[in-house]
Amino acid sequence: ALCDIGFIGLGVMGKNLVLNLADNGYRIACFDLDKDKIDAIIAQDREEHGQGTPRVVPCRSYTELLSKLKAPHLIILSVPAGEPVDHVCHLLIDAGINADDIVVDTGNSLWTDSVEREANYKGKFIFFSTAVSGGEVGARFGPSLMPSGDPYAWTRIEPVMQAIAAKVDPQTGLPIESHVPGKPVTEGEPCATYIGPVGSGHYVKMVHNGIEYADMQLICEAYQIMRDGLAMSPADIAATFRRWNDGKLNSYLMEISAEVLEQTDAQTGKPLVDVILDKAGQKGTGLWTAVSALQVGSPAQTIAQAVFARSISSLKSERVKAATLLTGPAKQAVSDSEREDAINQLEDALYCSKICAYAQGFQLMAMASKEQGWSLDFAEIAKIWRAGCIIRAVFLQSITQAYENDDKLENLLLDPFFARQIAQLQQHWRQAIARATMLGIPCAAMSSALNYYDSYRADVLPASLLQGQRDYFGAHTYERVDQPAGKKFHTEWSQPGRPEVKIKR
Ligand code: 6PG
Repeated sequence: ALCDIGFIGLGVMGKNLVLNLADNGYRIACFDLDKDKIDAIIAQDREEHGQGTPRVVPCRSYTELLSKLKAPHLIILSVPAGEPVDHVCHLLIDAGINADDIVVDTGNSLWTDSVEREANYKGKFIFFSTAVSGGEVGARFGPSLMPSGDPYAWTRIEPVMQAIAAKVDPQTGLPIESHVPGKPVTEGEPCATYIGPVGSGHYVKMVHNGIEYADMQLICEAYQIMRDGLAMSPADIAATFRRWNDGKLNSYLMEISAEVLEQTDAQTGKPLVDVILDKAGQKGTGLWTAVSALQVGSPAQTIAQAVFARSISSLKSERVKAATLLTGPAKQAVSDSEREDAINQLEDALYCSKICAYAQGFQLMAMASKEQGWSLDFAEIAKIWRAGCIIRAVFLQSITQAYENDDKLENLLLDPFFARQIAQLQQHWRQAIARATMLGIPCAAMSSALNYYDSYRADVLPASLLQGQRDYFGAHTYERVDQPAGKKFHTEWSQPGRPEVKIKR
C-alpha cells in the first residue's frame, strides 16, 4: 500500500517524529543521505512494532520516495535550518514533485527564510512551515507545534499535527503524558494550533527560544548566587530547585536543572556541573530574538542579556586571566537563618524575573504581529506552550488565563493576577538582586528584568534629557508635554555643536 507521508532527515528529531507519526497510525516513506540512519529507524520500528506490516518504509532516492506516496503528496522535512532546506526542496523539484504537494519544514528556520521559500516555491509545490519544540523526547511522544502558512495546506495537515502533538488536560492545564511506544495519548487538547500566515509560526518559535534562553539564564543565576553567595553545594541547590519545582516555579527547565546538579561525574566522582566547561553554546535562535527585538523596537532586555551571558561565558581564557587581575568584594560568611531568608528571596526574585521575561517575549510578538499583520492569538500561543515544549510550566496556564480574560492585554505585567504577584513579591526580588550585587555575583538577566519592570511602570523617564541632548548637538527636535503629539520643537542652544565644555582627563 502507498504511504501517507514522506519524511526526509532522520537525525534525532526526525527519527523520533517518524516514530511518533507511526504510533499515530500513519505509514511513512523515509529518506536520509546517511543509509545507517535509514537502517536504524527500520530496526527500531521492527523492535517497537513487531513483525507486522512495517510502518516505516525505506527509500533510496527522492524519486522512489515520491513514488511510494499517496497523492497529493505530503512530505515533512527535518533537516538543519538554512541552506539544506533549499537544497532538499530543489532535489524534490528535480524528482518531479507537483504543485499541489505540500512540503513541511520542521527545523529551527529563520522566519524570513520561510516567507521567501513560500514565494520562491509557489507553483512548484506548497511550502508550509511547522516549528517544533520539545527536544528528542517531545518529538517522540508529543511536541509543541507552531504551524503557519497556506490555510488550505493547513486543512490537510491539521489532523496529522494534532495527532502527534503533546496533549493538555483542558481542566487543569497540565500535560497528559505517555512515554510508551505504540501508546500515544489520544485525549486532551493538542498543543498544535494554526499560528497564521507563513513566517509567523517560526517567529513564534524563535520568541519561544528567546524566552527559553532567558528562563535558563535566570535559573543559572539563581544557582550561582546560591553556590557563591550562600555557600551551597550542587546537591543542596538541586534540593532547593526540587522544592521550588513543587510551587509557582514548577517547570520542565527547573526539573532538569535539579537533575543536572544531582549528576556525579563517573570519572572523577565530582558533581558533573563542576566538570562541564563553563562555555555556553548557541545555535542562533536567542540571538535572532534579540536582534528582532532591537529591530522592532520592543524592549526585550532579559532575553538579550541571556544571549550576552552566553557570549561572556565563551570568553573563558580572558575571564580566567581577568579573575587574577580584577578585584571584587570579599566573600562573606552566611548564617543558616540568613541563608534561609536569602533562598526565599531568591525564589520570589526568580519568579518575578520570569514574569518579566515572558512579558517581554509576548510584547515582542505583539509588536511583530502588528507590523506583519499576523493577528497572533496570544491565549492560543500560551495554550500550546503548556505541554511538549522546553518552556512548559504551570505558569503558562496563568498566561493563558490572562489573555483569555483580555485578548487586547498590552503587557502581561498589566494583567491583574501578575500585577498582584509582583506587588507582593517585589521586595524579595530587590533584596536578592541587591545581595548579589553587593557580593559581586553577576545576575544580568535577573537585574535586567527588574529594570524592565521599573522602567515600564515609570510614567516619566529621563528620555526628556536625552531628547534635549539630541536637539543640542544635532537639531533633532523634540515634542512637548503640553502640545499635540507629533508637533516638533527646537531650541536655539547657546553653542549648538560647539559646547564650551572642556573635556578633561
Ligand atoms: C526546543 C529547543 C530546540 C533547541 C534549541 C536550543 O524548543 O525544542 O529550543 O529548538 O534545543 O535549538 O538552541 P541553542 O543551541 O541555541 O541553545
